Amino acid sequence: MRKPFIAANWKMNTDMASAVELAGGVAKEIAGIENVKTAVCPPFVYLQKVAENLSHGGNLHLGAQDVYFEGNGAFTGEISCEMLKDVCVEYVITGHSERRHVIGETDELINKKTRAALDAKLLPILCIGELLEEREAGKTNAVVANQVKKGLAGFSAAEAVEITLAYEPVWAIGTGKTATSEQAQEVHAMIRSLLAEMYDQATAEAIIIQYGGSAKPANTEELMSCPDVDGLLVGGAGLKVESFSEMIKITS
Ligand code: G3H
Repeated sequence: MRKPFIAANWKMNTDMASAVELAGGVAKEIAGIENVKTAVCPPFVYLQKVAENLSHGGNLHLGAQDVYFEGNGAFTGEISCEMLKDVCVEYVITGHSERRHVIGETDELINKKTRAALDAKLLPILCIGELLEEREAGKTNAVVANQVKKGLAGFSAAEAVEITLAYEPVWAIGTGKTATSEQAQEVHAMIRSLLAEMYDQATAEAIIIQYGGSAKPANTEELMSCPDVDGLLVGGAGLKVESFSEMIKITS
């Protein structure tokens, strides 16, 4: 049985005060919900303050939006896994489409970041997803399968089950155009059968696959009712206590 996992990626939003308020508000709203894993991923500079204000042992966990694969050294502007762990981070997003397409990260770099995170005992959320032109050209499955294979290159089955995959069709991110539940389920099922080929059926059945792209309270129930959608990676709707908590409550 896969435990649903709902995470919010705050992207480059909030300020110190609103970050603390948002995380604290969500934690309060979802206190006592134990059948859903939850996390918020604030900007790096607010992680520590958010961590200090979240009660230990609560159900709301902390994630980062990115990490660098090297341990330390002359890598100006980068943040290491150990630095994230120092501020109580447990999850880290790798390969978000904005890092792939705005910053220019490659599958190889994303694989190294995912490897470094897992080796450091952080739990990666590895994002994959096709562009609109790739979907329109009928290349969705090929693009997503390639990203999954390259992202998970070198990981054993025992390691892969620690990694959450997040399928985020790029055309659905921040656009208000959610993939239909059929579109989401089709790609999620394809990913799971690919995982069964790469590893084995039991491993494929154990890996959490989130959907992301204009997920909100109004479509949570339908998306989460898809057999292969195990959670959500939420952008815009994760920036309000009410909407993000509601999505968690709907899922619980
Ligand atoms: O990481 C989150 C996704 O990019 C989804 O963003 O919910 O604002 O479309 P969105």
